[in-house]
Amino acid sequence: MAKDEQRITDGTARSEGISWTELMTVDSRSAPACLTQESYQYRGSAPLPVDRYTSEAVASLEREKMWPYVWQFAAREEDLPEPGDYVVYENAGRSYLLSRQDDGSVRAVHNVCLHRGRKLRTTDGTADKFVCPFHGFSWNKDGTFAGMPCKWDFAHLVPEKLGLPQAEVAHWGGYIFIREMFGGPTLEEYLAPLPDHFKRWRHEECTTALWIAKEVPANWKVTMEAFMEAWHTIITHPQILPFTGDCNSAYWTWGDNINVNLVPFGVLSPHLDPKGKSQQWIVDEFVKYNGRSADNYSNDPFAVTVPKGMTAREALGNAMRAAYSSSTGYDHESATDAELLDGLVYNVFPNFAPWGGYMPNIVYRWRPGKTPDTCLMEVRILTRVPKGKPIPRGAPMRLLSADDKWTACTEIGVLGDVFEQDMANLPYVQEGLHCSKTGEINLGNYQEIRVRQFYDTLDKYIKGQLGGFKA
Ligand code: FES
Ligand SMILES: [Fe+2]
Repeated sequence: MAKDEQRITDGTARSEGISWTELMTVDSRSAPACLTQESYQYRGSAPLPVDRYTSEAVASLEREKMWPYVWQFAAREEDLPEPGDYVVYENAGRSYLLSRQDDGSVRAVHNVCLHRGRKLRTTDGTADKFVCPFHGFSWNKDGTFAGMPCKWDFAHLVPEKLGLPQAEVAHWGGYIFIREMFGGPTLEEYLAPLPDHFKRWRHEECTTALWIAKEVPANWKVTMEAFMEAWHTIITHPQILPFTGDCNSAYWTWGDNINVNLVPFGVLSPHLDPKGKSQQWIVDEFVKYNGRSADNYSNDPFAVTVPKGMTAREALGNAMRAAYSSSTGYDHESATDAELLDGLVYNVFPNFAPWGGYMPNIVYRWRPGKTPDTCLMEVRILTRVPKGKPIPRGAPMRLLSADDKWTACTEIGVLGDVFEQDMANLPYVQEGLHCSKTGEINLGNYQEIRVRQFYDTLDKYIKGQLGGFKA
């Protein structure tokens, strides 16, 4: 359709079937404001250009105008729990060392030797000093210069000025963020209202139980955006339709940086004919195919019988509430069915997506690859550490190549099959975008509002309306 023929809309149309808001009113517990206060704003219906996914010039603009100015999720606290522990975090043409200091704080320094530029570290580890493996220039773990061999030949260098350049560091909810450029909004300002919502779900009590990274032959935004709406379920993940309110999901945005997709589980998709489908059948399908059920991360069998007159959601909510309270020692009596069952998938601009709720939580991160046609997608599973127990060191990252399948990592259970279904689209999206005749893509007004908000925000950085600050 030509641009001047674009139909006028206000974005208020919604799918048939029970809406998210209605579901919250029949939850077996009273739902918190973060799940009931709708926050949708229509942002226009214009097509988006495909070069945002395919062009090296756009990737270069992102590296110059966006990445240095945003708070990036760089590590979890449990990745570097002890003084001297360090992790290498690389993204968008930069490499950083995050290092735990003796006072418990974390420093982030650029991981590049100031002699002739070797990366100081290429893997995570523990050290009080970073000695460059090339000629032996060395730095203390706080980034101050420690010394070099053949000092007589470097009389022109001033040791006090040889500190490694630092990045800004801030913490929230067990996550460590860095920002290349100092200044600009604080992390708290940047994340609002997400920390308020997550007060109930307390990710700081969780640890990384599983962490998988996979090279994907598609742009980082193509890959991320495949996880920003639930409505592809109808064709990409048909096995979960029996218990997924795919097109009854809610899509809300706040400001420039935060959005959520609230996906109800334990309800029949409006795409399926309800005739002859019992509430027990919904539960049985959920237990078979849902990647976040309690049985995926423990050895306990998980069987739920729906009493007469009860909904699948309530029965599943009751079962999860009991299982989760006993396995963690926390009282989850007031937890809504929604917070125990549903996909509460938040995204933080630009590339971090923590799931809310109480169950083992999924955390996504996407990083651009060396060309616009590749990226690294990471999935962490956070589990709640039982009450009173110390938080154990996080699981290390397992890297899967472009040829490996998610299902090669058996610990991820049925989620591996779901991710494989997603992966089956992505290389062909990337190829399709490259050969697009129109040079444009089109978005749904409601179910793809998160993609449009992301586009708007990135555009503000590229145009210099956001970022660009100097400390
Ligand atoms: S490059 Fe690091 S000491 Fe020479
Ligand atoms: Fe998917």
